[in-house]
Amino acid sequence: MSTIPAISPDTASLIRRQAPDHPVFLFRPDVLQATAARFRAGFPGRVTYALKANDAPVVIENLARAGIDCFDVASVPEMEQVRALLPGAVLHYNNPVRARAEIRAGVAMGCVSWAVDSLAELEKLACEGVAQGTEIAVRFKLPVAAAAYDFGEKFGAAAADAPVIMQRAGSLGYRVSLGFHPGTQCGDPEAWRAYVTAAGNIARCAAIRPCRLNAGGGFAAPDGAGEPDQEAVFAAIAAARAGAFPAPLPGLFCEPGRAMVAGAFRLLTRVKALRSDGSVFLNDGIYGNLGERPAPPTLARFSVLTAQGSPRRGTARPRPVFGPTCDSLDRLPIRLALPETLAEGDYILFHDMGAYGAVTATGFNGYGKSALVTVSQW
Ligand SMILES: Cc1ncc(COP(=O)(O)O)c(C=O)c1O
Repeated sequence: MSTIPAISPDTASLIRRQAPDHPVFLFRPDVLQATAARFRAGFPGRVTYALKANDAPVVIENLARAGIDCFDVASVPEMEQVRALLPGAVLHYNNPVRARAEIRAGVAMGCVSWAVDSLAELEKLACEGVAQGTEIAVRFKLPVAAAAYDFGEKFGAAAADAPVIMQRAGSLGYRVSLGFHPGTQCGDPEAWRAYVTAAGNIARCAAIRPCRLNAGGGFAAPDGAGEPDQEAVFAAIAAARAGAFPAPLPGLFCEPGRAMVAGAFRLLTRVKALRSDGSVFLNDGIYGNLGERPAPPTLARFSVLTAQGSPRRGTARPRPVFGPTCDSLDRLPIRLALPETLAEGDYILFHDMGAYGAVTATGFNGYGKSALVTVSQW
Protein backbone atom coordinates (compact mmCIF):
# COMPACT_ATOMS: atom_id res chain seq x y z
CA MET A 1 0.00 0.00 0.00
CA SER A 2 1.35 3.43 -0.86
CA THR A 3 0.11 6.31 1.25
CA ILE A 4 -1.70 9.32 -0.18
CA PRO A 5 -1.42 11.89 2.59
CA ALA A 6 -4.52 13.88 1.57
CA ILE A 7 -7.50 13.32 3.81
CA SER A 8 -10.78 13.02 1.95
CA PRO A 9 -14.00 13.70 3.78
CA ASP A 10 -15.80 10.67 2.29
CA THR A 11 -15.92 8.12 -0.53
CA ALA A 12 -18.20 10.10 -2.84
CA SER A 13 -16.00 13.20 -2.78
CA LEU A 14 -12.91 11.07 -3.34
CA ILE A 15 -14.57 9.59 -6.45
CA ARG A 16 -15.64 13.02 -7.70
CA ARG A 17 -12.19 14.54 -7.15
CA GLN A 18 -9.92 11.71 -8.23
CA ALA A 19 -12.01 9.17 -10.20
CA PRO A 20 -9.47 6.50 -9.18
CA ASP A 21 -8.84 3.74 -11.70
CA HIS A 22 -6.65 1.80 -9.26
CA PRO A 23 -7.87 0.06 -6.07
CA VAL A 24 -7.96 2.39 -3.07
CA PHE A 25 -8.21 1.48 0.58
CA LEU A 26 -10.23 4.01 2.55
CA PHE A 27 -9.13 4.15 6.17
CA ARG A 28 -11.06 5.48 9.19
CA PRO A 29 -8.70 6.01 12.17
CA ASP A 30 -11.70 6.75 14.39
CA VAL A 31 -13.20 3.32 13.64
CA LEU A 32 -9.90 1.56 14.39
CA GLN A 33 -9.50 3.43 17.67
CA ALA A 34 -13.11 2.71 18.67
CA THR A 35 -12.61 -1.00 17.98
CA ALA A 36 -9.47 -1.04 20.11
CA ALA A 37 -11.38 0.76 22.86
CA ARG A 38 -14.18 -1.81 22.67
CA PHE A 39 -11.69 -4.67 23.10
CA ARG A 40 -9.92 -2.89 25.93
CA ALA A 41 -13.17 -2.12 27.74
CA GLY A 42 -14.68 -5.58 27.33
CA PHE A 43 -11.93 -8.18 27.20
CA PRO A 44 -11.06 -9.39 30.71
CA GLY A 45 -7.29 -9.15 30.22
CA ARG A 46 -4.57 -7.53 28.12
CA VAL A 47 -5.37 -6.74 24.50
CA THR A 48 -2.56 -7.17 21.98
CA TYR A 49 -2.74 -6.95 18.17
CA ALA A 50 -1.78 -9.65 15.64
CA LEU A 51 0.29 -7.63 13.18
CA LYS A 52 -0.12 -10.15 10.36
CA ALA A 53 -3.67 -8.94 9.69
CA ASN A 54 -2.46 -5.51 8.56
CA ASP A 55 1.00 -4.09 9.24
CA ALA A 56 0.45 -0.62 7.76
CA PRO A 57 2.17 2.12 9.79
CA VAL A 58 -1.17 3.95 10.16
CA VAL A 59 -2.58 0.85 11.84
CA ILE A 60 0.29 0.53 14.29
CA GLU A 61 0.28 4.25 15.08
CA ASN A 62 -3.47 4.47 15.62
CA LEU A 63 -3.52 1.35 17.79
CA ALA A 64 -0.73 2.86 19.88
CA ARG A 65 -2.84 6.00 20.26
CA ALA A 66 -5.68 3.79 21.44
CA GLY A 67 -3.45 2.27 24.13
CA ILE A 68 -2.32 -0.96 22.43
CA ASP A 69 1.33 -1.43 23.39
CA CYS A 70 1.81 -5.14 22.77
CA PHE A 71 1.97 -6.97 19.42
CA ASP A 72 1.82 -10.58 18.28
CA VAL A 73 4.56 -10.94 15.69
CA ALA A 74 5.15 -13.95 13.48
CA SER A 75 8.46 -13.09 11.81
CA VAL A 76 11.58 -10.98 12.12
CA PRO A 77 10.37 -8.37 9.57
CA GLU A 78 7.20 -7.97 11.66
CA MET A 79 9.33 -7.36 14.76
CA GLU A 80 11.34 -4.78 12.85
CA GLN A 81 8.18 -3.09 11.61
CA VAL A 82 6.87 -2.63 15.16
CA ARG A 83 10.23 -1.62 16.64
CA ALA A 84 10.76 1.02 13.92
CA LEU A 85 7.54 2.79 14.89
CA LEU A 86 7.20 1.92 18.58
CA PRO A 87 10.63 1.10 20.01
CA GLY A 88 9.23 0.35 23.47
CA ALA A 89 6.40 -1.97 22.39
CA VAL A 90 6.07 -5.42 23.94
CA LEU A 91 6.58 -8.26 21.44
CA HIS A 92 5.02 -11.73 21.65
CA TYR A 93 6.56 -14.15 19.16
CA ASN A 94 3.69 -16.53 18.54
CA ASN A 95 4.60 -18.34 15.37
CA PRO A 96 5.31 -21.77 16.90
CA VAL A 97 7.74 -22.90 14.17
CA ARG A 98 10.94 -20.91 13.82
CA ALA A 99 14.33 -21.26 12.15
CA ARG A 100 17.24 -21.08 14.58
CA ALA A 101 18.36 -17.74 13.15
CA GLU A 102 14.82 -16.41 13.70
CA ILE A 103 14.97 -17.49 17.35
CA ARG A 104 18.25 -15.66 17.84
CA ALA A 105 16.78 -12.57 16.18
CA GLY A 106 13.69 -12.79 18.42
CA VAL A 107 15.95 -12.88 21.47
CA ALA A 108 17.93 -9.89 20.19
CA MET A 109 14.69 -7.99 19.54
CA GLY A 110 13.54 -8.61 23.11
CA CYS A 111 10.48 -10.83 22.53
CA VAL A 112 9.06 -11.58 25.98
CA SER A 113 6.56 -14.33 25.21
CA TRP A 114 6.92 -17.30 22.86
CA ALA A 115 4.32 -19.82 21.70
CA VAL A 116 5.36 -23.46 21.19
CA ASP A 117 3.40 -26.52 20.14
CA SER A 118 6.03 -29.27 20.20
CA LEU A 119 8.87 -30.50 22.36
CA ALA A 120 11.33 -30.21 19.47
CA GLU A 121 10.57 -26.49 18.97
CA LEU A 122 10.79 -25.93 22.73
CA GLU A 123 14.25 -27.51 22.87
CA LYS A 124 15.32 -25.24 19.99
CA LEU A 125 14.33 -22.18 22.03
CA ALA A 126 16.40 -23.33 25.00
CA CYS A 127 19.33 -24.14 22.75
CA GLU A 128 19.28 -20.78 20.92
CA GLY A 129 19.30 -18.59 24.00
CA VAL A 130 15.71 -17.88 25.08
CA ALA A 131 16.43 -17.06 28.71
CA GLN A 132 15.00 -18.81 31.75
CA GLY A 133 12.10 -16.85 33.21
CA THR A 134 10.77 -15.99 29.73
CA GLU A 135 7.11 -16.80 29.12
CA ILE A 136 6.51 -19.92 27.04
CA ALA A 137 2.86 -20.36 26.04
CA VAL A 138 2.02 -23.92 25.00
CA ARG A 139 -0.45 -23.72 22.12
CA PHE A 140 -2.95 -26.54 21.95
CA LYS A 141 -5.76 -27.36 19.53
CA LEU A 142 -9.21 -28.90 19.77
CA PRO A 143 -11.50 -30.25 17.06
CA VAL A 144 -13.76 -27.18 17.32
CA ALA A 145 -15.38 -26.27 14.00
CA ALA A 146 -16.85 -22.80 14.45
CA ALA A 147 -14.40 -20.80 12.35
CA ALA A 148 -13.96 -19.93 8.67
CA TYR A 149 -11.25 -22.56 8.35
CA ASP A 150 -9.37 -25.03 10.54
CA PHE A 151 -6.26 -23.54 12.14
CA GLY A 152 -5.56 -26.85 13.89
CA GLU A 153 -4.41 -28.38 10.59
CA LYS A 154 -1.16 -26.49 10.93
CA PHE A 155 -0.49 -25.46 14.53
CA GLY A 156 -1.29 -26.58 18.04
CA ALA A 157 -0.34 -29.57 20.18
CA ALA A 158 -3.02 -32.20 20.77
CA ALA A 159 -4.59 -31.59 24.18
CA ALA A 160 -3.18 -34.94 25.34
CA ASP A 161 0.40 -33.85 24.47
CA ALA A 162 0.25 -30.33 25.90
CA PRO A 163 0.87 -31.30 29.60
CA VAL A 164 4.22 -32.88 28.74
CA ILE A 165 5.32 -29.76 26.86
CA MET A 166 4.24 -27.60 29.82
CA GLN A 167 6.21 -29.77 32.23
CA ARG A 168 9.33 -29.65 30.07
CA ALA A 169 9.03 -25.86 29.72
CA GLY A 170 8.77 -25.64 33.52
CA SER A 171 11.80 -27.87 34.03
CA LEU A 172 13.80 -25.64 31.64
CA GLY A 173 13.06 -22.71 33.95
CA TYR A 174 10.45 -20.93 31.84
CA ARG A 175 7.27 -19.20 33.02
CA VAL A 176 4.65 -21.54 31.64
CA SER A 177 1.44 -20.32 30.00
CA LEU A 178 -1.18 -21.85 27.73
CA GLY A 179 -2.71 -20.60 24.52
CA PHE A 180 -4.98 -21.45 21.64
CA HIS A 181 -6.51 -20.00 18.49
CA PRO A 182 -10.05 -21.17 17.72
CA GLY A 183 -9.68 -20.29 14.02
CA THR A 184 -10.30 -17.05 12.26
CA GLN A 185 -13.76 -15.43 11.92
CA CYS A 186 -15.13 -17.45 14.83
CA GLY A 187 -18.28 -15.80 16.17
CA ASP A 188 -19.37 -18.55 18.53
CA PRO A 189 -18.73 -17.92 22.27
CA GLU A 190 -19.01 -21.67 22.86
CA ALA A 191 -15.75 -22.22 20.96
CA TRP A 192 -13.89 -20.07 23.51
CA ARG A 193 -15.71 -21.72 26.38
CA ALA A 194 -14.56 -25.14 25.12
CA TYR A 195 -10.94 -23.98 24.73
CA VAL A 196 -10.71 -22.29 28.13
CA THR A 197 -12.27 -25.34 29.81
CA ALA A 198 -9.80 -27.61 28.02
CA ALA A 199 -6.95 -25.34 29.15
CA GLY A 200 -8.06 -25.94 32.76
CA ASN A 201 -7.98 -29.70 32.20
CA ILE A 202 -4.54 -29.56 30.56
CA ALA A 203 -3.15 -27.50 33.45
CA ARG A 204 -4.57 -29.96 36.00
CA CYS A 205 -3.07 -32.86 34.10
CA ALA A 206 0.33 -31.13 34.01
CA ALA A 207 -0.01 -30.13 37.70
CA ILE A 208 1.13 -26.64 36.67
CA ARG A 209 -0.72 -23.38 37.25
CA PRO A 210 -0.26 -21.42 34.01
CA CYS A 211 0.82 -17.81 34.48
CA ARG A 212 -1.41 -16.64 31.65
CA LEU A 213 -3.87 -17.85 29.08
CA ASN A 214 -3.65 -16.57 25.51
CA ALA A 215 -7.23 -16.56 24.20
CA GLY A 216 -6.01 -16.07 20.68
CA GLY A 217 -7.21 -14.18 17.75
CA GLY A 218 -10.21 -15.56 15.94
CA PHE A 219 -12.72 -12.90 16.98
CA ALA A 220 -15.12 -12.30 14.12
CA ALA A 221 -15.35 -9.20 11.96
CA PRO A 222 -18.75 -8.07 10.66
CA ASP A 223 -20.02 -10.34 7.87
CA GLY A 224 -23.23 -11.05 5.99
CA ALA A 225 -24.93 -11.83 9.32
CA GLY A 226 -24.05 -8.36 10.64
CA GLU A 227 -22.10 -7.15 13.65
CA PRO A 228 -20.69 -9.97 15.84
CA ASP A 229 -21.42 -9.96 19.56
CA GLN A 230 -17.87 -9.51 20.84
CA GLU A 231 -19.10 -8.91 24.38
CA ALA A 232 -20.74 -12.36 24.48
CA VAL A 233 -17.37 -13.89 23.60
CA PHE A 234 -15.61 -11.83 26.30
CA ALA A 235 -18.19 -12.93 28.87
CA ALA A 236 -17.83 -16.60 27.86
CA ILE A 237 -14.04 -16.38 28.26
CA ALA A 238 -14.32 -14.78 31.71
CA ALA A 239 -16.94 -17.27 32.93
CA ALA A 240 -15.04 -20.28 31.57
CA ARG A 241 -11.79 -19.14 33.20
CA ALA A 242 -13.51 -18.79 36.57
CA GLY A 243 -14.92 -22.31 36.21
CA ALA A 244 -11.79 -23.97 34.83
CA PHE A 245 -9.05 -22.71 37.15
CA PRO A 246 -8.68 -22.42 40.91
CA ALA A 247 -7.83 -19.01 42.35
CA PRO A 248 -5.64 -17.14 41.78
CA LEU A 249 -6.80 -17.21 38.17
CA PRO A 250 -4.23 -17.08 35.36
CA GLY A 251 -3.96 -13.73 33.62
CA LEU A 252 -5.55 -13.41 30.20
CA PHE A 253 -4.46 -11.86 26.96
CA CYS A 254 -5.86 -11.90 23.45
CA GLU A 255 -4.35 -11.10 20.07
CA PRO A 256 -7.11 -10.20 17.60
CA GLY A 257 -6.07 -9.43 14.05
CA ARG A 258 -9.11 -9.54 11.80
CA ALA A 259 -11.70 -8.22 14.27
CA MET A 260 -9.44 -5.35 15.30
CA VAL A 261 -8.71 -3.97 11.88
CA ALA A 262 -11.27 -5.22 9.33
CA GLY A 263 -13.96 -2.61 9.95
CA ALA A 264 -11.59 0.36 9.72
CA PHE A 265 -10.94 -0.12 6.00
CA ARG A 266 -13.06 -0.29 2.87
CA LEU A 267 -11.70 -1.18 -0.54
CA LEU A 268 -12.80 0.89 -3.51
CA THR A 269 -12.63 -1.06 -6.77
CA ARG A 270 -13.78 -0.08 -10.24
CA VAL A 271 -15.75 -1.89 -12.94
CA LYS A 272 -13.50 -2.19 -16.00
CA ALA A 273 -15.93 -4.02 -18.23
CA LEU A 274 -19.22 -5.89 -18.38
CA ARG A 275 -19.94 -8.88 -20.57
CA SER A 276 -23.26 -9.70 -22.19
CA ASP A 277 -23.51 -12.87 -20.03
CA GLY A 278 -23.67 -10.60 -16.97
CA SER A 279 -20.12 -11.17 -15.76
CA VAL A 280 -18.21 -8.24 -14.31
CA PHE A 281 -14.51 -7.42 -14.63
CA LEU A 282 -12.98 -5.41 -11.77
CA ASN A 283 -9.63 -3.67 -11.39
CA ASP A 284 -8.82 -5.92 -8.39
CA GLY A 285 -9.18 -9.62 -7.71
CA ILE A 286 -7.99 -12.67 -5.88
CA TYR A 287 -4.31 -12.11 -6.71
CA GLY A 288 -4.67 -8.57 -5.42
CA ASN A 289 -6.50 -7.21 -2.42
CA LEU A 290 -9.52 -9.54 -2.70
CA GLY A 291 -7.45 -12.65 -2.25
CA GLU A 292 -8.73 -14.01 0.99
CA ARG A 293 -10.68 -16.84 -0.60
CA PRO A 294 -11.10 -19.04 2.48
CA ALA A 295 -13.28 -16.41 4.16
CA PRO A 296 -15.88 -15.36 1.60
CA PRO A 297 -18.24 -13.90 4.25
CA THR A 298 -15.95 -10.89 4.22
CA LEU A 299 -17.11 -10.20 0.65
CA ALA A 300 -20.75 -10.11 1.67
CA ARG A 301 -20.91 -6.43 2.56
CA PHE A 302 -20.40 -3.91 -0.22
CA SER A 303 -22.02 -0.90 -1.86
CA VAL A 304 -22.16 0.14 -5.51
CA LEU A 305 -21.53 3.72 -6.61
CA THR A 306 -21.74 5.42 -9.97
CA ALA A 307 -18.79 7.17 -11.60
CA GLN A 308 -20.16 10.36 -9.99
CA GLY A 309 -20.10 8.81 -6.52
CA SER A 310 -23.85 8.46 -6.02
CA PRO A 311 -25.48 5.13 -5.03
CA ARG A 312 -26.18 2.88 -8.04
CA ARG A 313 -29.77 1.71 -7.67
CA GLY A 314 -31.58 -1.10 -9.45
CA THR A 315 -32.72 -4.66 -8.92
CA ALA A 316 -29.80 -6.78 -7.86
CA ARG A 317 -28.98 -10.20 -9.27
CA PRO A 318 -26.02 -12.50 -8.59
CA ARG A 319 -23.19 -12.12 -11.08
CA PRO A 320 -19.76 -13.70 -11.47
CA VAL A 321 -16.99 -11.21 -10.78
CA PHE A 322 -13.53 -11.54 -12.32
CA GLY A 323 -10.30 -9.81 -11.37
CA PRO A 324 -8.00 -7.99 -13.79
CA THR A 325 -5.32 -10.63 -14.41
CA CYS A 326 -5.26 -13.06 -17.32
CA ASP A 327 -5.68 -16.09 -15.05
CA SER A 328 -9.14 -17.63 -15.16
CA LEU A 329 -8.85 -18.55 -11.46
CA ASP A 330 -8.99 -14.81 -10.81
CA ARG A 331 -12.67 -14.88 -9.94
CA LEU A 332 -14.36 -14.04 -6.63
CA PRO A 333 -15.44 -17.17 -4.73
CA ILE A 334 -19.06 -16.04 -4.52
CA ARG A 335 -21.32 -14.31 -7.03
CA LEU A 336 -22.11 -10.75 -5.99
CA ALA A 337 -25.67 -9.44 -6.08
CA LEU A 338 -25.13 -6.38 -8.28
CA PRO A 339 -27.69 -3.99 -9.79
CA GLU A 340 -28.88 -4.73 -13.32
CA THR A 341 -28.09 -1.07 -14.07
CA LEU A 342 -24.39 -1.56 -13.25
CA ALA A 343 -22.23 0.30 -15.79
CA GLU A 344 -18.61 0.37 -16.87
CA GLY A 345 -16.78 2.89 -14.67
CA ASP A 346 -18.97 2.24 -11.60
CA TYR A 347 -17.32 1.53 -8.27
CA ILE A 348 -17.79 -1.40 -5.91
CA LEU A 349 -16.88 -0.48 -2.35
CA PHE A 350 -16.13 -3.59 -0.27
CA HIS A 351 -16.69 -3.06 3.45
CA ASP A 352 -14.66 -4.47 6.35
CA MET A 353 -11.57 -5.04 4.19
CA GLY A 354 -8.83 -4.09 6.67
CA ALA A 355 -7.64 -7.60 7.43
CA TYR A 356 -5.49 -9.88 5.27
CA GLY A 357 -6.30 -8.09 1.99
CA ALA A 358 -3.46 -5.63 1.43
CA VAL A 359 -0.93 -7.85 3.23
CA THR A 360 -1.60 -10.86 1.00
CA ALA A 361 -1.85 -8.97 -2.32
CA THR A 362 0.54 -10.09 -5.03
CA GLY A 363 1.76 -8.09 -7.99
CA PHE A 364 0.80 -10.80 -10.48
CA ASN A 365 0.37 -9.47 -14.02
CA GLY A 366 1.28 -6.02 -12.73
CA TYR A 367 -1.96 -5.66 -10.75
CA GLY A 368 -2.61 -5.76 -7.01
CA LYS A 369 -1.16 -2.40 -6.02
CA SER A 370 -3.38 -0.14 -3.98
CA ALA A 371 -3.39 3.33 -2.50
CA LEU A 372 -4.45 4.31 1.00
CA VAL A 373 -6.58 7.36 1.71
CA THR A 374 -7.68 8.45 5.16
CA VAL A 375 -11.31 9.50 5.30
CA SER A 376 -13.42 10.98 8.06
CA GLN A 377 -16.70 9.38 6.94
CA TRP A 378 -17.60 6.56 4.63
C1 LIG B 1 -0.87 -16.89 16.67
C2 LIG B 1 -1.93 -16.07 16.04
N1 LIG B 1 -2.51 -15.11 16.76
C3 LIG B 1 -3.46 -14.31 16.24
C4 LIG B 1 -3.86 -14.45 14.93
C5 LIG B 1 -4.91 -13.51 14.38
O1 LIG B 1 -6.05 -14.20 14.08
P1 LIG B 1 -7.38 -13.41 13.64
O2 LIG B 1 -7.00 -12.51 12.53
O3 LIG B 1 -8.33 -14.47 13.25
O4 LIG B 1 -7.84 -12.65 14.84
C6 LIG B 1 -3.30 -15.46 14.13
C7 LIG B 1 -3.71 -15.64 12.74
O5 LIG B 1 -3.17 -16.38 11.96
C8 LIG B 1 -2.30 -16.29 14.71
O6 LIG B 1 -1.71 -17.26 13.99
